[in-house]
Amino acid sequence: MGAVHVLDHPLIQHKLTHIRDKHTGTKEFRSLVQEVAMLMAYEITRDLPLVDVEIETPVAPARTRVIEGKTLALVAVLRAGLGMLDGILAMIPNAKVGHVGLYRDPDTLQPVEYYCKLPPHMEVRDVIVVDPMLATGGSAVAAIRAVKERGATSIKLMCLVAAPEGIDKVRTGHPDVDIYVAAVDQGLNAHGYIVPGLGDAGDRLFGTR
Ligand code: PRP
Ligand code: URA
Repeated sequence: MGAVHVLDHPLIQHKLTHIRDKHTGTKEFRSLVQEVAMLMAYEITRDLPLVDVEIETPVAPARTRVIEGKTLALVAVLRAGLGMLDGILAMIPNAKVGHVGLYRDPDTLQPVEYYCKLPPHMEVRDVIVVDPMLATGGSAVAAIRAVKERGATSIKLMCLVAAPEGIDKVRTGHPDVDIYVAAVDQGLNAHGYIVPGLGDAGDRLFGTR
C-alpha cells in the first residue's frame, strides 16, 4: 500500500484555513493555493536523490551536491490542478509539465477524460500528479491510470484536501503511489463534496460560480 503523508507544517495549515473560508475571494484563494502548493513541493521533494559535483567557490574548490539529472514531470489534473502548478514550479522550475483533462459527471460522479498531453519519456521520470481535491478518488485513479498508460512507473499524488474514501480508492487502485495531502477531512456529502472541504476548487480558482 502507498503511504499517506499529511503535511502539517504550520504555514500550510494556516493558509489552508483561509483557503477553506467561504469569505475568501477568488484573487486571494488563487494566491493562497499557489503558496500552499509551493510549501508542499518543498516537502514532497525531500527524498530527491543528490549527486556529488566539483565546483569552485571564490575561495576554494568544493565538493558539493546537486539534484540528480532525472527530470521531474508535474501532471496537473484540469482544471483545478492548474491552480497549484505555478507554486510547485517556483520550487522546481526545470520540471516538465503534463495535463490530464477530467471532469466529474455531476450525476454519476464518474470521471470523464477529455484531454491528455504529457512530456516524452514518462518511463524515466519521477511524476507528481497534482489536483487540489481527492473526493471519491475517481479522478485521481483515472489520472494516475492515464500517466501509467504512457509509461510512468514512479508516481506521487499531491492534493490539498482529501476524503478518506478517496484515499482508500487510490491506495486500492494504485498501491504503488504515495499520497501527499495538507488535510484529511471527515468524508463526503450526498453530492460527493468533501466535508468540510473548501467547496468547488475549480469554481473558486477561476470564479466560475
Ligand atoms: C474536481 C477536482 C478533482 C475532482 C475530485 O474536479 O479538481 O479533479 O473534482 O473528485 P473525485 O475525487 O470525486 O473524482 P471537477 O470534476 O470539479 O472538474 P474541474 O476541475 O474542471 O472543476
Ligand atoms: N471537487 C471539488 O472541487 N470539491 C469537492 O469537495 C469535491 C470534488
